[in-house]
Amino acid sequence: MSIIVVEGGNRLEGKIKVQGSKNSLLPLLAATVSAAGTSVIHNCPRLTDIEAAIRILTYLGCCVVRQKDTVIVDSTNVDRCDIPDELMHEMRSSIIFLGPLIARFGRASLSTPGGCEIGSRPIDLHTASLRLLGAQIDEDGGHLECRCPCRLRGVKIDLSFPSVGATENIMIAAATAKGTTTITNAAREPEISDLACYLNASGAHIRGAGEGTITIDGTDGLSGCEHTVIPDRIVADTYMTAAAVTGGNIVLENIVPAHLSPMLFVFRESGCRIRLGGNTLWLKAPRRLERIRFIQTMPYPGFPTDAQANAMAMACTAKGRSVIVETIFESRFRHVDEFLKLGARITVEGRKAVVEGVPRLYGADVVTPDLRGGAALVAAGLAAEGVTKIRNVKLIDRGCESFEENLRLLGASVKREEYNESGNSTQPTLPAGAAGFRTEAVCR
Ligand code: EPZ
Repeated sequence: MSIIVVEGGNRLEGKIKVQGSKNSLLPLLAATVSAAGTSVIHNCPRLTDIEAAIRILTYLGCCVVRQKDTVIVDSTNVDRCDIPDELMHEMRSSIIFLGPLIARFGRASLSTPGGCEIGSRPIDLHTASLRLLGAQIDEDGGHLECRCPCRLRGVKIDLSFPSVGATENIMIAAATAKGTTTITNAAREPEISDLACYLNASGAHIRGAGEGTITIDGTDGLSGCEHTVIPDRIVADTYMTAAAVTGGNIVLENIVPAHLSPMLFVFRESGCRIRLGGNTLWLKAPRRLERIRFIQTMPYPGFPTDAQANAMAMACTAKGRSVIVETIFESRFRHVDEFLKLGARITVEGRKAVVEGVPRLYGADVVTPDLRGGAALVAAGLAAEGVTKIRNVKLIDRGCESFEENLRLLGASVKREEYNESGNSTQPTLPAGAAGFRTEAVCR
């Protein structure tokens, strides 16, 4: 068990490089299954969720090599179309393997990934869309048995909600379907455009990614390609938050300014000065933040649900009242109870949180409720007086690469402590951030 220990009070200053996007890389790795060939993917962060996706790929028969931040997947010899429950349950986005498996084999057998920390996470939009493309899907007691006697066929799909995962599953499956597929009310997140770039470089014909309507002209097969994953816009937001709450002055490299634009108003309204140039961002925060009047999470290009906890961390010590409405996930306020332990003043009514900013937070023992909530708690701890201990940090490790190291580079006083099952302190056997990650080729 790991705990992150933060001693608050240091103003963050300095320059760091932002990691590649987890939420881009996960569907991209799944998509390699539908391309019978080799994909060379750069800017891959070292994260437990990425390792889980690689375990699925090797189970299916891919050969995977990691060389620093490059992952090479050879999917030529994929020969399995089932995914065992224990691999499916490691992360929610394992459902994105459904489309690629059906596209490649006309068959797939896997369990539903289930709900998670941020609420029930149905997959009805994924299955309904794949059925429209011609897949027969039997759902029984949390298990999906999928067959497609003929090749998938292009069709018009109108999503009732612009689901990121459903849009990704459809794009991958339709890339090798017969005929043209049109998705209306498609998700427009940058990760969708990144997936389209990868698929097109592998031989697909996809137009309109990043817009509400995506058109996919099916092709006979995909071959793999070389691709660089986009920077992680949510992790960038997390470091910006950590700087903002500490009155800091930081430089972030490897960002895409356009991807951050839905979040920038929060920083500007709270009094931070932001400058953008090329792939670099400069942020200078005031001594105390101003309130953020109203934030409502929305699909891209709206304010992202994944940055909601960060905005709340800023509102906790801002001057005055901030209102935050969560519209995407029904249980994504679990970090509120933990902010309260630090001395925040927050009331929640349904999907609305009202935050009355206090001059100071005080260190306490808190528990990570989910990946983004945990990272926001670390940021809040940096601004708190005294020591904050953040437990259950394995959830943070799902999405933030070398988190403490990066914060230390910015001058934060933060460390990781390891404990065994009896609660005794142990020394990490590998440098933090490197535990369990391979550099050699892994094939089944
Ligand atoms: C992606 O999840 C991200 N995950 C999430 O990031 C992110 O919070 C979410 O998009 C929204 O931006 C990855 O990309 C791996 P959705 P996804 O399908 O695809 C409902 C993080 O912290 N819905 O757009 O699962 C659903 O219940 C994570 O990195 C259905 O009703 O999100 C939710 O209310 C957490 N039926 C809404 O749509 C469906 O079939 C948005 O879900 C699918 C979704």
